[in-house]
Amino acid sequence: MPVLRLAPVTPAPHLPVIDLKLGLSKTVGRGRQADVMVDDPSLSRLHARVSLDDSGQLAIDDLGSTNGIFVNGTEQLSAFLTPGDVVRFGRVEYVVSAEETERLAPDAPAVSQTVLRRVAMDSALKVDRLVLEALLATSREMMAFEDLPALLERVLDRLASIVKPDRAAILLIDSQTGALIPRAVRPSGAYSSVSEFASSTVVHQALEARDVFIVHDIRMDPRLQQAASVLLAGVRSVICVPLLGRSGAIGALYADKLGVEQFAPELAEYAAAFGGHAAAALETAQLYDDRQRHFRATLEAFAKAIDARDHYTSGHSERVTAYSLVLARKSGQYAADFETIRRAGMLHDIGKVGVPDAVLLKEGALDARERTLIEAHVTIGYQMLEPLPFLGASLPAVRGHHERWDGAGYPDRLAGTDIHPHARLMAVADTYDAMTSRRPYRDALSAGEAARRLRVDSGAQFDPAMIELFDQVEQEFAALHEDRDAAAMRAELLRSVG
Ligand SMILES: [Fe+2]
Repeated sequence: MPVLRLAPVTPAPHLPVIDLKLGLSKTVGRGRQADVMVDDPSLSRLHARVSLDDSGQLAIDDLGSTNGIFVNGTEQLSAFLTPGDVVRFGRVEYVVSAEETERLAPDAPAVSQTVLRRVAMDSALKVDRLVLEALLATSREMMAFEDLPALLERVLDRLASIVKPDRAAILLIDSQTGALIPRAVRPSGAYSSVSEFASSTVVHQALEARDVFIVHDIRMDPRLQQAASVLLAGVRSVICVPLLGRSGAIGALYADKLGVEQFAPELAEYAAAFGGHAAAALETAQLYDDRQRHFRATLEAFAKAIDARDHYTSGHSERVTAYSLVLARKSGQYAADFETIRRAGMLHDIGKVGVPDAVLLKEGALDARERTLIEAHVTIGYQMLEPLPFLGASLPAVRGHHERWDGAGYPDRLAGTDIHPHARLMAVADTYDAMTSRRPYRDALSAGEAARRLRVDSGAQFDPAMIELFDQVEQEFAALHEDRDAAAMRAELLRSVG
């Protein structure tokens, strides 16, 4: 007999699992009167009721809670649930799954709308439990991803493990142009253009019909026999799943088999179920990604405005970012960190927003109190950016770019390798730019003189390993600073990692 289970996404002792048998319902809440007591302050005493009716339909109702119930991110008063759905009571998240206490009888009632029922309707098809379990595990896992590129790769891996194609791809619709753009491809480089996706006919038909498109044997399908891409690649069998988000189609999953092997007919059902979960996760991640990008762009514009407050430092953050990226690229150790370093470079002085103009723009020497106010920019910047999870990896450089290798820097007086490598690298970039920029009290130093002073301070202010790196890219620094096209070169460098 099937049992439906709601299990906490992040298990904890105060979050009990909620099991439901056919014909049963349970109330959930913080109070003792609830059938299932979830001891979390974000829940109301009697928060919701979950019920599984005799036909296997699972439903949830809000019992007038303060913080509401959310199903896959959308607030609902009542909703039907299927395995893979994520339900949030207040701040606590649960995921729905189907459990079995005995073997599933062939005529057992279907327990979900999207997965089991579709398969069970066709008695000729066997339910492959392994595939179903993979589907459920995948949808649980997918809802936890917030990073779009990583999620795309995971979705494609999972699709491949279910349909076992020779080639596969995720195409996403560009919201500006409406064009389908391949965002992840297996094996990489398998298709050199979108028209090679075994005829874009298949993709477009799947999107128009809003249903899975499967061609078991292309030789039997007159629509595809003439498609040059199909013939050239030797495609035998094709499956295409439209990705339908809440606001319409967002793209398609595509897979094909070459040579003699064909896709099995039941894969259409699995692929459809998989596509539904993948679309929900991708749409959420896409929105999150867009929001993050816009927010970052706003912050960076803000940082540039701070640079511009003082005409002596105008363009400083952009130049520090360019120098930092040159060092990072040369070292070979930070290939995965370019974006983190770029963000840190653009935002490293953002805390100067909290430094009064009278101090920041003062032309003469600073007294001790004024120096303390200026130095506070690293901790102010850190506190401003700390609540933003997508900037977490950039924080050590924001906070630590004025630390010194000998321990005499600020704000934490860290020394040596206790200072984060991004901060050690940025200290070189920051100081180089400060020295080669004009100041009210002195002219800009030449690139050669700035380089000489950096070397003198190796092992005192700077990590000797970073100065060794600088030695190898000194000419590149000078070009980014002095060349007639320096601004264009820097902009190109920043774009290439963005
Ligand atoms: Fe700074």
